[in-house]
Amino acid sequence: MSTPSSRRPSERPSGRRPSGIPGSRRGSIDPSRLVSIDKAVAIGGNDNFNVLFIGAGNIMFGSPEGPWNHSFRLEHKLGPRLKVVALIDPNTERAAAVLEKKCASFVVSAYQNTRIFKTLDDFVKNMSPRDRPKAVIVGSPPMFRGTTKPGRDVELQILKHFPGVALFIEKPVATGPKEEISEGFQLAKQISESGTVCSVGYMLRYLRAVQTMKQIIDDNDLTVMATVARYACAYEAIAKPDWWDKSKSAGPVIEQGTHFCDLSRYFGGDVDISTVVAHSLEWYEAPGKLSKMQVDERQIPEENRIPRVTSATWKYENGAVGSFTHVVGLQGHNYSCELEVFADGYSLKLVNPYVQPVLYIRKPGDDDETVQRFPDDDPFFSEISHFIDVIEDIEDEDEEDSQILSSYDDAVKSYQLTWAIREASEKSKKSP
Ligand SMILES: NC(=O)c1ccc[n+]([C@@H]2O[C@H](COP(=O)([O-])OP(=O)(O)OC[C@H]3O[C@@H](n4cnc5c(N)ncnc54)[C@H](O)[C@@H]3O)[C@@H](O)[C@H]2O)c1
Repeated sequence: MSTPSSRRPSERPSGRRPSGIPGSRRGSIDPSRLVSIDKAVAIGGNDNFNVLFIGAGNIMFGSPEGPWNHSFRLEHKLGPRLKVVALIDPNTERAAAVLEKKCASFVVSAYQNTRIFKTLDDFVKNMSPRDRPKAVIVGSPPMFRGTTKPGRDVELQILKHFPGVALFIEKPVATGPKEEISEGFQLAKQISESGTVCSVGYMLRYLRAVQTMKQIIDDNDLTVMATVARYACAYEAIAKPDWWDKSKSAGPVIEQGTHFCDLSRYFGGDVDISTVVAHSLEWYEAPGKLSKMQVDERQIPEENRIPRVTSATWKYENGAVGSFTHVVGLQGHNYSCELEVFADGYSLKLVNPYVQPVLYIRKPGDDDETVQRFPDDDPFFSEISHFIDVIEDIEDEDEEDSQILSSYDDAVKSYQLTWAIREASEKSKKSP
C-alpha cells in the first residue's frame, strides 16, 4: 500500500480490467505493503465514490461475534469520498436502523442520502444517473446468490445493469445444492470474460502472516508437499439458528471452514476433487453431545443438524496432500485455528489467524522454530483497501499494481472443495 502522494489513478474506466487479465495476477503481495488500518491514510482524490450495499447484516455493519464490518473499512479507505447510494435488504427495518446509527455519527456524509430498497430491481428502476455505483458490495446470505436462477442470480443482475462496475462478494459464493456448483463456474466465466474487477471475501489471504508464508515459498522456490489445517470454532458464541441448520447454512464446513479450505488451496493449488475422503462425528453420536449450545436444536429437523467434527484429506492436482479438520467443540469466544504448510526442509505454521496471528517457521539448518508475531493486522481492511486500489488503478512508483487475491473462479473452487468434504463425510456416516 502506498501513501496518497505516490498514487496515480489511471484513465481506465472504473471496475474494468483489460480483457484477458484476471483480477488476480501475481497472486501474492509483499507483506510489507500490508499496513494496519490505524496507519493507513484515506485514498486521495475529491470525486464521490458511489457504493451500493446489498445486505444490511453483520458483515456489512459489524456484530459482537467478530471483527468484520465492511462499512467501517470503506469509510476509512475512502474517507469523505464514500457515498453509499443505496442499501438493499428485504428487511427494511434493519436497514433503517443501521443507517440511523451511521447518520448520527461523524460519517454522516457517506449515508445522509442513502436510500433503502427491498430488491436490486427496485433500485435499478428508481436510480438516477448520478447514483450509478462504482462498486457493489454483496453481503446478502449465500443462499440468495451464486447461481443463474432468477432470484438467486444477483451477480448476473449486477453485470447486466451495471456493466463495468466492480464487485465485492462475500464468501461462500453460494450455499445451494451441490448440482448448482456448475452455475458458479458459469458465473466465474462471465465475470472474468467481462473484465469485471471482482474480489471474494476470503480475507485471510490478506494476512501479513499468510503473505510472509507466500514470500518464503516464493523466495526459496519451494513446492508445497502438504497442508494441514485445523479449525475449531467456539460454538457457545454462535447464536444464529440458521448456522446450526444445514438446510440454511449448508453446514459448518461450507459456511465457516471454507476459510481454511480456501487457504489450504491458496498454498496447495487446485484439488483433485475425486480424491476427497472424509469422516464426521454427528450430533447423535455420544462424543457429539454439546452442553453449551445457545440455540434449541430440537427446533431443527434431525436430518438438518450439523456434525460436530468433520475431518477430510485429499490430493492436490500436483500430488501434494491436504487435510482439514473442523470442530464444533470449544466454548467461550476465541476460535482455535491452525494451518501448517510443509515443503522440503520447511514447515510454516500459522496459528490464531483471527485474533493474534503467529507464524512458526522451521527452516533447513535449524531444528528449532523461529516465531514471528503480527500484531494489529487487519485483513478485512487490507482486502477492501486492495479492492479499492485496483478499481482506482492505483500503482506504486516502484511496485507492481495492487492485487486481488481471491477471484470468483478461485472462490467457486473452494466452494466445490467444501461441498466435496460435506458429501464424503455424509456418505461415510453411520445412521442414528
Ligand atoms: N469473511 C468473514 O469472515 C465473514 C464474516 C461474517 C459474515 N460473512 C458472510 O457474509 C454473508 C452475510 O452474513 P451476515 O453475517 O452479514 O448475515 P446476516 O444475517 O447478519 O445479514 C444478512 C442480511 O441480508 C439480508 N438479505 C436477505 N436476503 C437478501 C437479498 N436477497 N438481498 C439483499 N439482502 C438480503 C437479510 O435481511 C440480512 O439483513 C454470508 O455469506 C457470511 O458467510 C463473512
